[in-house]
Amino acid sequence: MKVLSVASEVYPLIKTGGLADVAGALPAALVGAGVEMRTLVPGYPKVMAALGRTKTVMKVDGGQVRHATQDGLSLYVLDIPALFDREGGPYGDASGRDWDDNARRFATFAHVAARIARGEAGWQPDVVHAHDWQAALVPVHLRFGGGPPSVLTIHNIAFQGRFGGQVFGELGLPDSAWSVDGVEYYGDVSFLKGGLVTADVITTVSPTYAREILTPHFGMGMEGVIAPRAHLVRGIVNGIDTDVWNPETDDALARNYTARTLARRRVNRQALNDEFGLTPGGPLFCVISRLTWQKGLDLLADNIDHLVGLGGKLMVLGTGEPGLEDAFRKAARRHPGHVATHIGFDEKLSHRVQAGSDAILLPSRFEPCGLTQLYALRYGCLPVVARTGGLADTVIHANGAARRAAVATGFVHDTDSGPALGDAITDAVALYGTPEWGVMQRNAMRADVSWNASAEEYAALYKTIAL
Ligand code: ADP
Ligand code: GLC
Repeated sequence: MKVLSVASEVYPLIKTGGLADVAGALPAALVGAGVEMRTLVPGYPKVMAALGRTKTVMKVDGGQVRHATQDGLSLYVLDIPALFDREGGPYGDASGRDWDDNARRFATFAHVAARIARGEAGWQPDVVHAHDWQAALVPVHLRFGGGPPSVLTIHNIAFQGRFGGQVFGELGLPDSAWSVDGVEYYGDVSFLKGGLVTADVITTVSPTYAREILTPHFGMGMEGVIAPRAHLVRGIVNGIDTDVWNPETDDALARNYTARTLARRRVNRQALNDEFGLTPGGPLFCVISRLTWQKGLDLLADNIDHLVGLGGKLMVLGTGEPGLEDAFRKAARRHPGHVATHIGFDEKLSHRVQAGSDAILLPSRFEPCGLTQLYALRYGCLPVVARTGGLADTVIHANGAARRAAVATGFVHDTDSGPALGDAITDAVALYGTPEWGVMQRNAMRADVSWNASAEEYAALYKTIAL
């Protein structure tokens, strides 16, 4: 089975969030299931700089498609300098403002993907797997112009790729795609909507989120679009790359450890204390996150005095909304030695924080899957999470029954509630330092967070739609 994966970011070449990790890990995970996956990614400067030898496999307007084998990935890179060779992020400039030609950039990306899907680069996939709005026009092209069947995965329905109707002419789609069965959405163009009505199968990254997006609260306007196709929606929970995230071998850590040598974690905590001026003692809670409304971190900001009052410590690694960055910086000034921040994106530091913290906080308002709680489980850093999406599917709450059965792996609280988050922090602090905490750490580290089961599910899904 050959599958073309189409993603706007892929780890380790370019990453702003979990999509990159998933697109980067899935190909290797699928090998065992008999799937050969190649990945199309835009040729941003970071991607071009990382490439070794490449081979031009297709000419396109203003550039070319190169093939390369890089970091174990078989990559097609869309090298069109006018669209992708610019400083800043994949979607916007350094100040975070979206590029004003994003419709054209990702329409071109999808158009080329459809041509590769039809075999024009000399390789014929059986199925195309498109990720999020940036790739959502691929199924539209394949539906209106012919080609292999497609899967569209929603990593986050909040991002829909919506543009004024006047951009339709730039998308390279036939006129018939301007309709309710295509990209038209209340007079605008919506990339995601187009993909949702044309893909052969829709997946999202956890079973709970698959149910949630059918409701007005979580569907963000797309619930009505999906409703008639609800029978085509599947939730497949993300896994993680257990080689990249392995506390036994991770060379970012001050000290490696396993579930059997948990005491060694202390060295990693000490290293964080030294690096960030935190004082010893108390459970160290951490945040590793985009600082946005989705992640519910304003609720945490309101709970910091409570957390510190209980004797807890907090380390925040994140970047995002200026208001939230400010709130955490202020908290660090208010509680020196107890609260520390690193405002920025730092992959290596994220490993050190997972290994040195006792618990990770994810008070998300919605969370399609969430990966940091999975990394945390593997590192024996207990997740304190809101009951939503993939968080609800991957963390076992320390209620009485789960504790008696010795299966609890974290703390799960109601969403969108400061008091509920506060209570969960209180519960975690109360258990910290008791033998039960160690039991939970070992449960967490034993949990299967690998891709094994989910890769099998994707492989089975591809088979059901392949011609
Ligand atoms: P999302 O994709 O919604 O941001 P996920 O939990 O799926 O959430 O993935 C986030 C990814 O980005 C994780 O790999 C996490 O470790 C990483 N990450 C987020 N913020 C930072 C940061 N400031 N520094 C380093 N890594 C980060
Ligand atoms: C999105 C979601 C996150 C998910 C990630 C990878 O960015 O916000 O919950 O883990 O995609 O699927």
